[in-house]
Amino acid sequence: MQTTLEKTLARELQELRDTGQYKQYNELQRPQAPRTRMDGHDIVMLSSNNYLGLADHPKVLAAARDAIEKFGMGTASVRFICGTMTCHLELERKICAFIGCEAATTFISCWDANVGVMPTLASTPEDAIFTDALNHASIIDAIRLSKAKRFIYKHRDLAELARMLDSPEGKAARNKLVVTDGVFSMEGDVADLPALKELANKHDAVLIVDESHATGVLGKTGRGTAEHFGVQDVSTVQTSTMGKALGGSCGGYVAASKVVCDYLVQKSRPQLFSNALPPAVCYGSMAAIDVLMQEPQRLEKLRQNVRHFRAGVKELGLKTIEGITPICPVIVGETATAIQMQKALLAEGVFVSGFGYPVVPKGEARLRCQISAGHEKTDLDFALAALRKVAEKFPQARGH
Ligand SMILES: Cc1ncc(COP(=O)(O)O)c(C=O)c1O
Repeated sequence: MQTTLEKTLARELQELRDTGQYKQYNELQRPQAPRTRMDGHDIVMLSSNNYLGLADHPKVLAAARDAIEKFGMGTASVRFICGTMTCHLELERKICAFIGCEAATTFISCWDANVGVMPTLASTPEDAIFTDALNHASIIDAIRLSKAKRFIYKHRDLAELARMLDSPEGKAARNKLVVTDGVFSMEGDVADLPALKELANKHDAVLIVDESHATGVLGKTGRGTAEHFGVQDVSTVQTSTMGKALGGSCGGYVAASKVVCDYLVQKSRPQLFSNALPPAVCYGSMAAIDVLMQEPQRLEKLRQNVRHFRAGVKELGLKTIEGITPICPVIVGETATAIQMQKALLAEGVFVSGFGYPVVPKGEARLRCQISAGHEKTDLDFALAALRKVAEKFPQARGH
């Protein structure tokens, strides 16, 4: 007999099926790569965060294998009990050297890094968190775990943020955090870091930037949004992931001042109560950072590919959000349309994921195209030809 809970869940699942919003896994049958195999089709991958094409790089794989030989599978412990290995300390030193920060501390994911930062640095009702409405779900959930007052400003609306910081409640707050994605994951647009930093400084607030889609992507040498704008600063707290450009495995980190990192090590619950990163992830991610530093041509190739693809999308007359990042959304309106277009594109040999509400606002469902340095121009032209063919059947995707 079904319990009441199971009946409720089954009804909701049926609603998802009836409205074409039910998600099903696609099976990747080879490594994550710009050309790979999915559900029995050879495909061009246009929906992965593997921005530098390092997920199957021989040096990254060799470093991971070596780590297993030297340190085994994992720590069987959290960091502060007996889970800190040489590989964690080496990785944190490498992150510091790469980002140019005073200190870094790692988490099992960037989700955990965000959950480790927000409720820990703003823990009481006297504190305040100011957050962009389109920040990533991990930031939203992290803020839900904090007891601080919440101020949600419209996406990239810094005039509204300024008013909130200037409000009597904003002014009276003790610890103030201004939180933003560096590159917004569904829009592909970039936070105005210089203006955010100026506002944060003026109001004695700490700026926290989630660099998950910017690390290894933005800036002359791939160090992220701060490098892109030339506003590197020790008091800014960065969170980021190794699960995207830096090899695509998993793992997150916080890069910040010594005092902030020290405090997080003492108090942040995801690090205190969850196992440390596996050695293969630590050394694989370090190798990915090395490849990024040794092969700057990868970044150049990524940028050429982004320009080429974005120009192609514009030429097709598809509705997109213009920008400079490898996240190039094609807005199609309804969730069901995005899912149908995803299926049609897969039949053409291109995988691109459709996203709908609640991941993006209602009526703004989209195909999120993501470009990699590993794509060849021929891959991108193949994908654009498939998009052209599929868009003919879905006029909703046409911008003008
Ligand atoms: C902006 C942003 N922050 C955090 C995360 C979570 O990263 P991780 O997979 O390391 O938990 C993601 C992943 O999608 C993201 O896009």
